[in-house]
Formats: sequence, C-alpha cells, structure tokens
Amino acid sequence: MRISRIALVVVAIISGLDPGSAQSSGAESDRESLRIFLQGALPAQPAFNLSGSPCRWPGVSCSDTDSRVTRIDWQGWELRGSIPQDSIGRLDSLLYLNLYNNSISGTLPPDLWDLPQLQYLNLSRNLLQGSMSIALGRPSGLFFLDLSQNHLAGQIPPSIGLLKSLVMLNLSRNDFQDLVPGAIFGCSFLRTLDLSYNRISGVFPSGLSHLVQLQALYLNNNMLRNVSVGIWSMNSVETLRLDGNSLSGLLPSQVGAALKELDLKNNEFSGPVSSDLGAFQSLAYLDLSTNRLSGPLPEKLTGFPSLVHLGLDNNPFVESRFPKLQELKKLEYLNLSATQLTGGIPEEIGNLQTLKQLDLSHNELNGTLPESLGSLVGLTSLDMSYNQLNGSIPNSMARLTQLQHLNFSYNDLIPSSGHSPSDNSEHNIRDSPHRRHLRVAVIVGIVTGSAAAILCVVAGLCYCRGSVKVFNKKQEPTKEERFISMSGPFSSEMDPSVWAAGVRDPHTIPVVMFEKPLLNLTFSDLVQATANFSKDAQVPDGGCGPVFQGVLPGGIHVAVKILGEGIPSEDVASACAQLAAIGRLKHPNVVPLLGYCMVGVERLLVYDYVQDGGDLYGRLHELPEGMPNTEDWSTDTWEHGQEGTTNAAVLAVLPWSVRHRVALCTARALAFLHHGCSPPVVHGDVKASNVLLDAECEARLAGTGLAQLVEIGTGEAGYVPPEFGSSSSNAGNNNSNSNSGSSREMSPKADVYSFGVVLLELVTGKRPVGDDYPGGHGNQGGVVQWTRWLVKEKRGFKALDVRVMQGDEDMTEMLEALRVAYLCTAETPSKRPTMQQVVGLLKDLRPSTSISGELVGGSF
Ligand SMILES: *[C@@H]1O[C@H](CO)[C@@H](O)[C@H](O)[C@H]1NC(C)=O
Ligand SMILES: *[C@@H]1O[C@H](CO)[C@@H](O)[C@H](O)[C@H]1NC(C)=O
Ligand SMILES: *[C@@H]1O[C@H](CO)[C@@H](O)[C@H](O)[C@H]1NC(C)=O
Ligand SMILES: *[C@@H]1O[C@H](CO)[C@@H](O)[C@H](O)[C@H]1NC(C)=O
Ligand SMILES: *[C@@H]1O[C@H](CO)[C@@H](O)[C@H](O)[C@H]1NC(C)=O
Ligand SMILES: *[C@@H]1O[C@H](CO)[C@@H](O)[C@H](O)[C@H]1NC(C)=O
Ligand SMILES: *[C@@H]1O[C@H](CO)[C@@H](O)[C@H](O)[C@H]1NC(C)=O
Ligand SMILES: *[C@@H]1O[C@H](CO)[C@@H](O)[C@H](O)[C@H]1NC(C)=O
Ligand SMILES: *[C@@H]1O[C@H](CO)[C@@H](O)[C@H](O)[C@H]1NC(C)=O
Repeated sequence: MRISRIALVVVAIISGLDPGSAQSSGAESDRESLRIFLQGALPAQPAFNLSGSPCRWPGVSCSDTDSRVTRIDWQGWELRGSIPQDSIGRLDSLLYLNLYNNSISGTLPPDLWDLPQLQYLNLSRNLLQGSMSIALGRPSGLFFLDLSQNHLAGQIPPSIGLLKSLVMLNLSRNDFQDLVPGAIFGCSFLRTLDLSYNRISGVFPSGLSHLVQLQALYLNNNMLRNVSVGIWSMNSVETLRLDGNSLSGLLPSQVGAALKELDLKNNEFSGPVSSDLGAFQSLAYLDLSTNRLSGPLPEKLTGFPSLVHLGLDNNPFVESRFPKLQELKKLEYLNLSATQLTGGIPEEIGNLQTLKQLDLSHNELNGTLPESLGSLVGLTSLDMSYNQLNGSIPNSMARLTQLQHLNFSYNDLIPSSGHSPSDNSEHNIRDSPHRRHLRVAVIVGIVTGSAAAILCVVAGLCYCRGSVKVFNKKQEPTKEERFISMSGPFSSEMDPSVWAAGVRDPHTIPVVMFEKPLLNLTFSDLVQATANFSKDAQVPDGGCGPVFQGVLPGGIHVAVKILGEGIPSEDVASACAQLAAIGRLKHPNVVPLLGYCMVGVERLLVYDYVQDGGDLYGRLHELPEGMPNTEDWSTDTWEHGQEGTTNAAVLAVLPWSVRHRVALCTARALAFLHHGCSPPVVHGDVKASNVLLDAECEARLAGTGLAQLVEIGTGEAGYVPPEFGSSSSNAGNNNSNSNSGSSREMSPKADVYSFGVVLLELVTGKRPVGDDYPGGHGNQGGVVQWTRWLVKEKRGFKALDVRVMQGDEDMTEMLEALRVAYLCTAETPSKRPTMQQVVGLLKDLRPSTSISGELVGGSF
C-alpha cells in the first residue's frame, strides 16, 4: 500500500503534471488553514493583503513545484488570539515556523505536534499559557523547540520525551514548577536544554546521563535546593549554569572533562575552594561569587590553564592573602571584591598580561600599589575602592590607555609625583573618583576599525577551483577525478607546514570564533593545535584545500580548512557578513562553521570536527575489491584503522539500512538549507566526500557556505548537473586559468541533481564516474547515464549493490530509492523534485527509520 502511494507520487512528478489536481488542492488547503488562523490573529491594520496566494505573502515561502507552504516567519507581527486546531496544524509541508514576539495566547493545539515535516518551531515571546501536553500520532522530526518567554505553567510533562529528535529545547522564562523525573531523558539527542528562569524547585532529578550529547544545560534562576551528583560528571557538557538557585553543600571536587563554563554564583555553597578544584582543564569561565564559601583562599590557583573569567567575589573567606595567579595565562576578568583579602598586592600581578577587568574593592589590602600595574595595558576597568592602600599612584599607570572605569576611592592614595600640578589642585583623590576617567574611545575606535577593515579585505579574497584531495589513506592512488589540481599555494606539491612556518607574528593574527570570543585565539593556536599543519594532523577533505584537525585551547576539536589563493572581491563587507551568517546556520545534519582566520591571502575556515566515521566517499568506494558483506557494523566499526592495517571492522560494507539513513539525513540537511532558510542557501558542492559520518553514523553535510564564499569553479566530476555544460563532467582536464567559463548560477535544483548522484552511489555502490558499469553501455557516461539507461530498459535491479541487501524488503526499497535518484538526476532542472519532496519519498520507502533514534535503540 505504501509502495503504491509512492509510485503515484513518482508518476505524478515524472509526468510533470504540474498543477495536478492533488497538488493544487494541497495549496488550496494551505490557504484555507492559514485563513482560519489569521482571521482571529491579525491586528486591526494587517500588514498584508489576504486575497492572493499565501506564497506571495511576506515571510512565507513555498515549495516551487507544488506551491505548498514550507516556511513561515512572522516575527513581531503583532498577531494575537490563539492557534486553533485544524489551522497551522494542517500545513503538512511546513518545515519552519517562527512566530517569535507576538501576542499569541491560549494553549497549543495538539495537531501542531503532528506536523510531519516540521523541523523548527519557535513561539518564544508570546502569551501562551496552561500546561503543556504532547500527544503524537507519528514520530516527530522536530529539532528546535523554543517556547521561552510565555506563561506556560505546571509540570514539564513526561510526554516531552516523545520529541525524540530534539536537539535544542528552550523553555526558559515560563512558570514551570516541576520536572517529572525522567521526562526529558527520552530526548537523547538534546544538545542544548534551557529551563532557566522558571520556578522549578526541589532536587533536580538524576538520570541526566541519558543525555549523552548534551552540551549546554541552563538551570539558572530556579528554586533548586539540590542536584543529583551526576550533574557534575556529564562528559559532553560544556556549559553548566546553576546560578541563582538555593544549592548548598560543598563544591564539586571533579567536573566533566569538556566543561568550559561553570556558573554557580548566587547560591548557598559553603566550605573551602581547593587550589586546583580537581584540575578543571578546559574551564574558561568560573563564577563562584555570592555564596558562603569560607576558609582561606588557596595560596595558589593552578589547574586552570584555560581560565578567562574568574569570579570569587562576595564570599566570607577568612583572612586570605592575595593568591598567586601567574599560571592563569589567559585571564581577562578577575573579581576578588569582598573576599576579606589582607596584606599587599604582589608585584607579580603585572604578569596577568591578558587582564581586562580587575576588581579588588571592599577588602583590607594595605601597602602601596605595585609599579607593575602599569604593564596591564589591556585593562579597561580597575576597581580598588574600599581598601587601606597608601602611597602614590604609580607613574606607570599612564600607560593604561584602554581604561574606561577606574576607582581608587576610599584609600589613602595620593596622585603620582610626576603629575602635572595644574591638572588638579586636589592631592587626595578620595572624593573625586571621576577625575581620572580616561577618554580613549576615539583611539580605540580607530584601532579596531582599521583592524576590521583589513580582515574584511582579506576575507573577500579567495578563489577555489575544482577540488583537491591532497591526502589519502589508501596506498593505491585514488582516481584522477579526486585530484583536480588547483591554482594557488595549495596545489598538491605545496607543503602547508612550510607555509605556516613562514607566517610572521602568528600570535597577532586573530581567529574569529563566532560563539566563543572569550577564548581570544590566534593563528599560533591553530599552528600549535595542528602540530605545524603536519601530515599527521591532515584529514581527508571534500575539496577546496587541505584540512587539518586539532584540539584548540578550551578543548574545542576542530577541522581547519585552508582555502586557496584569493581573488579580489567587489563586496568586501558582504563577505564578512556572509561568514557570520554561515556561522549561524545550525542543523544537526550540517557541520557547523565555528570561525575563520585570515592569514595573508589564505583564508582558514574553522569547522566543528566530526569524529570517527570518515567521509561517505571513503566508506563506499575505498574498500578493497571483493570485500565480503559484513553485517557487524554496529560495534566498534567506526574507528579509523592505522594506515595499512586490514582491520575487518574498519572495512565493513555499509548495509542498506545505514545507507538509507545517510541518504535521509543528507536530504533533510538540504531540505533545511533550501526551504527552512531565507533566503534559501544553496550548498553548491554536494558530493559523497562532503557527507561525513560520525561515531553514531549520523550523516553530516560538510562544506556548507563554501559556495557563498568562493567560486567552486567547475565542481567535482560526476556531480555536475548537465545544465552547467557537459565538458565539466570530464575529470582532470582543467587548465589552470580557465576561470571565465567556470562560474555558474547556483540553484537548489543543482543541489538536487548532485544529491541524486550521491543517492545513486548509495544504491549502486559505484563511483560517479570512472567505474566499471556493466551492461554494454561503455564507461563514458558515469553512474547517471548507466542507471538511467537501465531504468528505461526496465532492468533497474541490475544496478543495485547486491552486497548490502539483506532480504526482499531491502531490494524493494533500493529499487524505489533508485527511482528517487532517477527523478533527482532528471536532465531538465524543473523536472527534478524539491529536497523536501525527496525527504518525503525517502521516508515513505522505509517507514521504520526514525531520524535520530534508530541506531541508539529508540525505534518508534
Ligand atoms: C488585495 O489584493 C487584490 C488583488 O490581489 C486587490 O484586488 C484588492 O483590492 C487588495 N485589497 C486591499 C485591501 O488592498
Ligand atoms: C517585538 O515586536 C514589536 C512590534 O513589532 C517591536 O516593536 C519590538 O521591538 C519587538 N521586540 C523584540 C524584543 O524583538
Ligand atoms: C527564536 O527566535 C528568536 C528571534 O529570532 C531567536 O533569538 C531565538 O534564538 C530563536 N530560537 C531558536 C531555538 O532558534
Ligand atoms: C532561551 O530563551 C531565552 C529567552 O528567549 C534566551 O534569552 C536564551 O538565550 C535562550 N537560550 C538559549 C540557550 O539559546
Ligand atoms: C543532595 O542530594 C543528593 C542525592 O540526591 C545527596 O547525596 C546529597 O547529600 C544532597 N546534598 C545536600 C547538601 O543535601
Ligand atoms: C565584582 O563583584 C562585586 C560583588 O559581587 C560586584 O558588585 C562588582 O560589580 C563586580 N565587578 C565587576 C567588574 O564585575
Ligand atoms: C598590612 O596589614 C597587616 C595586618 O593585616 C600588617 O601586618 C602589615 O604590616 C600591613 N602592612 C603595611 C605595609 O601596612
Ligand atoms: C602606609 O601606611 C603604613 C602603616 O600605616 C606606614 O607605615 C607607611 O609609611 C605608609 N606608606 C606610605 C608611603 O605612606
Ligand atoms: C567608586 O566606588 C565607590 C564605592 O564603591 C562608589 O561609591 C563610586 O560611585 C565609584 N565610582 C565610580 C566612578 O564608579
């Protein structure tokens, strides 16, 4: 039955029945559903005219084949009233719904949870009320759910665990009072959980260890009295905020290895602080202020090599001396206000060269100010008020040109002897704290302004043609098409480590990190992390330049891609904006861009490193001939073997169930880029080597945004759609300066074609070009022409990769997948389905596959 439904759709698409009756009635029903919602929701002066097709309304996007609504973004439209059942909940092609900042009230209609395609739901900043209840008629594919800033109350229901695909859940700023034990633990893919600013009381339940992917946990500003001990040892968590609760007891002695930000301020913790707090290796941000910590401060703080922010202020420590802090080489914020410090301020304070904010107020510090204060040239704020300091203010302080806030009041200090007498008649500045407020904003402005301009000029430069594969684990040289040579310094002969060694002043070249600006990374950190861009750190890549992996300070595991020689860009500012926009693209199946670094004409892109699984091209095509079918892929199969080993597990053939998942995840990533983003993002370089598999065999699309940044040139052989000219489908014949004819207009339909080729690789196990394609058709046309010919001859089954079939079911499914690939690779772009339709077709052909549950045992 399900097969016949697919067949119908397939037939409809093939025959190009464009406004076929089924489709137009879908569009008609979308219009009606929206009308039902809007008639109660529109403000008195609606900003748009309801008479036309919704596809022309502002904030609405539709699929271009069947005019179904795929995306609604109505932030701040002053919509009011509730969302009735049978309104938005009937838009069954809807992928993205954002109604942030309206006045929508009432409870959520049950059918909203059942929208089959919905990936993103944002109803933050509305007036929703009542308790939350979720009932599902089918598995949910929702990734992002933001209900923050509403008036939802009661308990967070156990049914939230039905949203098994959730990656991000934000229920912050509501009136929830209770979290049912175990409720959230069904969402085993959660990476961010924000329950802050509610009224959750009591003990936070144990069982967090089920959330193996959790990276950020916000429980701050609730009424928690206790947390289960497991909360300290979650190994994936990077951000843990528990500030503003009523937690008591001793500080944890050990925390998870990945922890970067720990905020425990405004609680009731007591007891001492140990000198290394159990060696918090990755910690960049630690705030313990406003607790009841006592005992003396440790003499020396070690074990925090990455610490940037340290707040110990407002705790009743007893008679502490100023601690030794020399090992905190990255410290920018230090607050020791109101910590009962006595004695003098040591000269060594001048070693904290990175310091920007220093607050030592409300203590009993005595003696004179150290001359070395003048070496803290980055200081923007310095507060020494309420101490017993005497003597003169050192002359060296004139060097602190960045200071914007300075407070020496309530001490016995006198202005420095070298001070101009006409400057001020007062000798004691106790009563004139504003006097030394330094006005340096103009200088600061000029300095940062020009630095940014230089960055942007460089950002605009890059030209990358074809695709490079500098590195390969196999001894047998890979097919020529993986080695299209590239102009610029990173042709295959160039040694990146030689290049890196020649870069001058590497510690002055910043690495811009979109989400972790605190870390203050520089090019020298990249050099260090990748062991001078050594061969050992190099990893297989999807083209456009070599890629190196390494761990940056703060424990961030990254892949650094060096792009080739630049070309001047007309629009410098937009290149910078595009980089930041790419950094904002977040999808579980898209490898995120974390930052960038500009070194001369080279541009380095810093991506999240995807662990273990290798790229799909390698997994499909770089196994030795005659590999037997190995079914044992579930255990221990994803580690890379050492070069030259023949570890059978490493070489396992991917079975069909996994291949299908890979196809579906990749299709969902593309559907999100095409239909869930506005303006749509075209990937431009979809190919098997850009599909990375992580340890759980989740597929993630790499290289997103590259097409917006560099000219992809002719693209990789075999993946180029026919509308870009047949010559480009021949591998290895590029001459180095043929850039005129190579630029092509990026369209989503080109991605669909390239995806179709990847799908053919999954179904047939053949390379896109240059493989052996049996059946008397020659080897010229590649996998597309071969399979299209077989399908037309009604012999499609001859193309299937028999090694991966495990039964009749598999064969039926693979034949259907072959047909989907056939549609995707249609010669005429308009005949190809949209990625959203592809997701639907792929889902239907194997209904048992859940998006992110299957391999972890969470079958629906
Ligand atoms: C709405 O648009 C239709 C045509 O699309 C037009 O006839 C009608 O006058 C418009 N209404 C308003 C209130 O602008
Ligand atoms: C919310 O929307 C209103 C009305 O459009 C707008 O004035 C306001 O700035 C928005 N607030 C936020 C926080 O986005
Ligand atoms: C919801 O929309 C607001 C406003 O655009 C945004 O700040 C917030 O991050 C969104 N939530 C999610 C989960 O993307
Ligand atoms: C959750 O929502 C709140 C309020 O809308 C916002 O301030 C907060 O940053 C969000 N949390 C995350 C982790 O994005
Ligand atoms: C908090 O609760 C845990 C068990 O959930 C218990 O082991 C611990 O002693 C409690 N701590 C305090 C300070 O009550
Ligand atoms: C340092 O801590 C005190 C007391 O908690 C606070 O009032 C002050 O604002 C903090 N200083 C800075 C620079 O944040
Ligand atoms: C600072 O105060 C301590 C007592 O708290 C005292 O022993 C020491 O002599 C004082 N030093 C100066 C320079 O006044
Ligand atoms: C600072 O105060 C201490 C104790 O009151 C005193 O011995 C010392 O001479 C003073 N130093 C200066 C430079 O005034
Ligand atoms: C300096 O500190 C004192 C006491 O803490 C406060 O009253 C005064 O406003 C502060 N001055 C400035 C410029 O912040």
